[in-house]
Amino acid sequence: MEDVVYTARGTPNIALIKYWGKRDEGLILPKNSSISLTLDGNAETVVGKAFKLYTTTSVVFSHKINADFIYIDGELQDLSNKAVRDRFAIIDILRGIAKTNAHAMVVSKNSFPTASGLASSASGIATLAYIASNALDLKLSERELSILARRGSGSACRSIMGGIVKWEKGEAKDGSDSFARQLYTHDYWPELLDLIAIVSEDKKKVASRAGMAQTVATSDLYRKRLEIVDGYAAQLEKAIEKKDMDVMAEIIMKESNSMHAVMLDTSPPIMYLNDISREIINAVHEINTASGKRICAYTFDAGPSPHIITTEHEKERIVDRLLKVEGLQSLLLTKMGKGPEMLQESDALIDKSFAPMLK
Ligand code: PMV
Repeated sequence: MEDVVYTARGTPNIALIKYWGKRDEGLILPKNSSISLTLDGNAETVVGKAFKLYTTTSVVFSHKINADFIYIDGELQDLSNKAVRDRFAIIDILRGIAKTNAHAMVVSKNSFPTASGLASSASGIATLAYIASNALDLKLSERELSILARRGSGSACRSIMGGIVKWEKGEAKDGSDSFARQLYTHDYWPELLDLIAIVSEDKKKVASRAGMAQTVATSDLYRKRLEIVDGYAAQLEKAIEKKDMDVMAEIIMKESNSMHAVMLDTSPPIMYLNDISREIINAVHEINTASGKRICAYTFDAGPSPHIITTEHEKERIVDRLLKVEGLQSLLLTKMGKGPEMLQESDALIDKSFAPMLK
């Protein structure tokens, strides 16, 4: 399979039950299980800058190159830096499984702003795990792929499959039972929507990897979170089974607030939300109160831009309200997607002489 360029695209996921904190830093094993929606990359722009939510990645393994080269959005990654090398450790892991010493050329581009809290690392690492294992013809199962993606970035393990996905925290020391599994396929709840309100495109100030380690080390409130979060996950699973938006919205919002509360309880405090984020929180509660039941929920990852989970039926009035929020930069609409998919040769980002095509 060497010397052939393979290309795929994958998408981010949005966590409804959040992963924040590791029990093993090296193997990326989480303190709690998490649940997410894998997003459809083909987002519609309601207002503002048009984004799609894809990471497209081309990979070739070859003996004709004398080192690994990884380009992300046109930038050559510095593999002499340990943190960067760790992020791409899956290349070495795959080489070991395939018993090859061929080097890899990887060219990846995001159709959305990198590191702005839109889960570019999840999308990027999941796509890389998927396409690099295909390039080496390894025929890994989804479970194996998710374990592999986990080694690059925890949340990436959930972007290996589409629909509603649970990352089981596992108990084993070697991480063999810490993998993602699909709870429902992308078409389980076609009405379900995700409105992404982009309030800033700045790169985040605290990387999630460092931030969560700091929370585990310094937050007292974090211990309380660990007592309740698995209960939230169980309640959410029941609500999803019943397609009960009212209960689901309550859990999603409490859970997002719980994660941001332990961030604030970290020393020094980690603050991802801004004034516009808080205005949207208030707007969502206002809509729910006026409706007499919860018809929408906000959830924030490590950034200020909320995802607002709702249903098709309620879309218009929520969009109308969000458009009144001053400082809103873009509003995107998407739903659940199918996870990574192979692309054609014509979509490759590496040409036949293995030169990156940074188009
Ligand atoms: O896997 P990382 O380092 O990108 O961590 C991401 C953690 C959150 O996005 C904040 C929550 C989650 O579960 O996705």
